[in-house]
Amino acid sequence: MSKFKVFRVHNQDGNINSRFEHVSIDQIGTGNVVIKAAYSNINYKDALAATGAGRIMKRFPLVAGIDTAGYVHSSEDPRFREGDPVLVVGRGLGEEHDGGFSEFVKVEGDWIIPLPEGLTLHDSMAIGTAGFTAALAIQRMEDNYQTPEKGTILVTGATGGVGGMATSMLSGAGYDVAALTINGKEEYLKSIGAKEIVDANTLEMGERPLEKGLWGGAIDAVGGKTLAWITRTVKNYGNIASIGLAGGHELVTTVMPFILRGVNLLGINSTYCETNLRKKVWLRLGTDLKPAAMDVIATRTVGFDNIPDLFNEYIEGKITGRTVVEINPE
Ligand SMILES: NC(=O)c1ccc[n+]([C@@H]2O[C@H](COP(=O)([O-])OP(=O)(O)OC[C@H]3O[C@@H](n4cnc5c(N)ncnc54)[C@H](OP(=O)(O)O)[C@@H]3O)[C@@H](O)[C@H]2O)c1
Repeated sequence: MSKFKVFRVHNQDGNINSRFEHVSIDQIGTGNVVIKAAYSNINYKDALAATGAGRIMKRFPLVAGIDTAGYVHSSEDPRFREGDPVLVVGRGLGEEHDGGFSEFVKVEGDWIIPLPEGLTLHDSMAIGTAGFTAALAIQRMEDNYQTPEKGTILVTGATGGVGGMATSMLSGAGYDVAALTINGKEEYLKSIGAKEIVDANTLEMGERPLEKGLWGGAIDAVGGKTLAWITRTVKNYGNIASIGLAGGHELVTTVMPFILRGVNLLGINSTYCETNLRKKVWLRLGTDLKPAAMDVIATRTVGFDNIPDLFNEYIEGKITGRTVVEINPE
């Protein structure tokens, strides 16, 4: 195989510098399967890693990109054969292993998910880490007895990737969704399945350990004061899936929601979710949790060469929905 293009991040004495380079296959990754990438996508985490705005990468130089989808190019793992359509989402790509912003991606067979029925490779990257995280949150909530009858689910950071995917999936699964947003894109949020819009800018949060019960449960991408308020306003035995920290990493609350209302706080980590659960969630992403509004959320498909121009939009919080990256599109 001749040299191929990667987008690689370097750390020179603390200065982060990322650029396109050409490398040979023995210069990247560890693993027994090589994927010829068709698509990747951009997540907030990728923008943090590529610009150095956040400490995401555990070693340098490293190829960025936390997700990849494509065809098996070569495999020493008997479970995979040349030409199989596959994807890898999370599992440390672009954080500790060379990642998905690359024409070829070397991975361990254990990290691979065969492309689920019901999804194209493009769909799988429109969903990507954001959609997988949203679906994992719903799975964990339902495993803990969340049902539509328990009441409206609050989704925060709703115009973002995870929030948008969660809104569409919950609505498709029969839940009423309230979208909490600072950007006020009401029309967009309603078009992807939100029944109610809650304006974060004018929200009265109160200060009591328990406020009036409003929500059957919540998927929270914001953290901080917002998450604290959610713990105080979820009804009896509701589940809160904590997935992000767009508004802050602290959490100040009391034990009252937990011991008086039986509220459950579920931690969601998409990167290191164990394999059986990961496979189960991907099967659901091709069937009952397939987001009906996927094409409204993932409206943007960009060429591989364009990715460096987009990272700042993520850092500045100007992005709505999801962006798919074409590497070797079908
Ligand atoms: N746990 C996991 O495995 C996992 C996986 C993926 C992502 N994440 C985390 O989840 C969060 C969301 O990720 P994403 O990919 O959806 O990001 P994103 O597409 O950039 O969306 C983040 C959204 O959060 C809201 N927001 C942004 N800045 C805010 C602020 N200062 N205060 C309150 N809200 C703010 C905005 O939504 P509105 O305008 O609608 O309010 C924004 O669209 C990030 O913290 C990310 O690191 C975690």
